[in-house]
This record gives sequence, C-alpha cells and structure tokens, in this order.
Amino acid sequence: MFKFRRKKEFILEDIPNHIAIIMDGNGRWAKKRMQPRVFGHKAGMEMLQEVTIAASDLGVKVLTVYAFSTENWSRPQEEVKFIMNLPVEFFDQYVPRLHANNVRIQVIGDVSQLPEATFDAMERAREKTKHNSGLILNFALNYGGRADITHAAKLIAQDVLEAKLNPGDITEELFSSYLMTGSLPYLYRDPDLIIRTSGEQRLSNFLSWQSAYSEFYFTPTMWPEFKKEGLLEAISEYNRRQRRFGGV
Ligand code: FPP
Repeated sequence: MFKFRRKKEFILEDIPNHIAIIMDGNGRWAKKRMQPRVFGHKAGMEMLQEVTIAASDLGVKVLTVYAFSTENWSRPQEEVKFIMNLPVEFFDQYVPRLHANNVRIQVIGDVSQLPEATFDAMERAREKTKHNSGLILNFALNYGGRADITHAAKLIAQDVLEAKLNPGDITEELFSSYLMTGSLPYLYRDPDLIIRTSGEQRLSNFLSWQSAYSEFYFTPTMWPEFKKEGLLEAISEYNRRQRRFGGV
C-alpha cells in the first residue's frame, strides 16, 4: 500500500514578540525512560537551548522561561540542588553559542535567595551578554506572579512614603513598570503567547499580571521533546487566533 504523508504546514505570518514557556514534564519524561527525574531536567536544559536558537532565528524579541518557581523549593532537596546547579552548567556550556547568536540573558525573580554559585553564574551570563541586541532570554528563577505583584506594591508604597510618587499617579502602566518585567523593552513587557507543555492547563503563579491578554497554548508534549517543531506549531496556532484585547 502506498502511504502518502502530507508535510505539515505552519502559519508564521505574525511572530509573537514575547513568548513565555512553562517547561513542564521533565520528571514524567525521565520516569517513562526508567531514569531519575534529574535526567529529565538535563534534557530539558538542552531543549531550552534548541528552542532559544529557533525563537531567535524567527525574530522573537523576548523568551521568558519558568525555570524555578517560588513553590519549587518544596521538592526533594537533592532535586532542588540539581536544578540550582543547572544555570552553572548552562552558562558554561551554552552561553557561548547563545552569545554568538546575539542573545541577551536577563533574570526575573528573587535572586537574592539563590545559592551563591547559581547567582554568580546568572550574573556572569547577564554581564557577558548585556550589549547583545537580539532575543532576550529572560529566566524566571525563584519567580512567582503573586510575589512579583506584592514586590511591586512594596516599591510603590516606598516611593509614596518618600514623596517621589503621588497615589493619584498610580496607573496600570506605572504599576507594570514596577513589576520584575519592567526592565524589558516597553513594547514587549507582556507575553503575547504562553506555552505550557505536558498536558497541564494552568498558569501556576507564572506572570499573573502580565498574562491578562496573552494567548494560551497547551500541548501534551513533554518539554524534553518539544523541539523547534513544537514552537512552530504553537506559533501557527497563535496565528489562527484573533486577538481583540477586549474590543470587537
Ligand atoms: C518542570 O518539570 C520543570 C522544572 C521545575 C525545571 C525546569 C528547568 C529546566 C527545563 C532547565 C532550565 C535551565 C536552566 C539553565 C535553569 P517537572 O519536574 O515538574 O516535571 P513533571 O511535572 O513531569 O514532574
């Protein structure tokens, strides 16, 4: 019997400026292969590099990735230790290639709570790539959406207390500049598209404020298997949707 497989066509007319990804399913992917969970995180880190290069080639401006949430500390200590060491490995092994691709690395989250080696690796990467003008790879590390909003409220309260700001001047736009994403280029602060792998369909305290008008894309694919095709598929689906921002 003759089998004809039609090549998949992707619609890539409108490339989202800011894509955010919840890289979920590393543990389950590893378990299916009779491997320890950390094996999945390592594979996940490699996938992150592949997807970053693909996004950069497509002209995406910001890629925010949920690498560690404020809730992830409750995982077994050994796993937390392993994940915390990933940035160290990532920046030694992968940053040179990302740097060569003009990628700039930034971080959001409470980095003051990170182990020293993790913090130092992040700082090195940020410093090394700070003059790059290409895609911003924005790591959410020890990040939580509610913590982000609470932190912004504290900063605003402090500025009001010091008479640098009048309560009447607090607008949504001003509030957004106090959020951890406030240092991103103004037009790309909020994600256009949020992707979550592994079949789960929730936000899990990721970019709570910033996601108000984002499109959501959920796929059953586990993160270590997402690949460039996964990204193209997600963007293609994004292109099939019409964003109206509350209008008609
Ligand atoms: C979620 O999968 C994944 C994480 C909590 C860690 C994600 C980290 C990476 C992909 C590597 C990031 C790279 C750097 C440089 C920090 P899960 O463990 O919740 O999987 P499960 O739902 O199957 O258990």
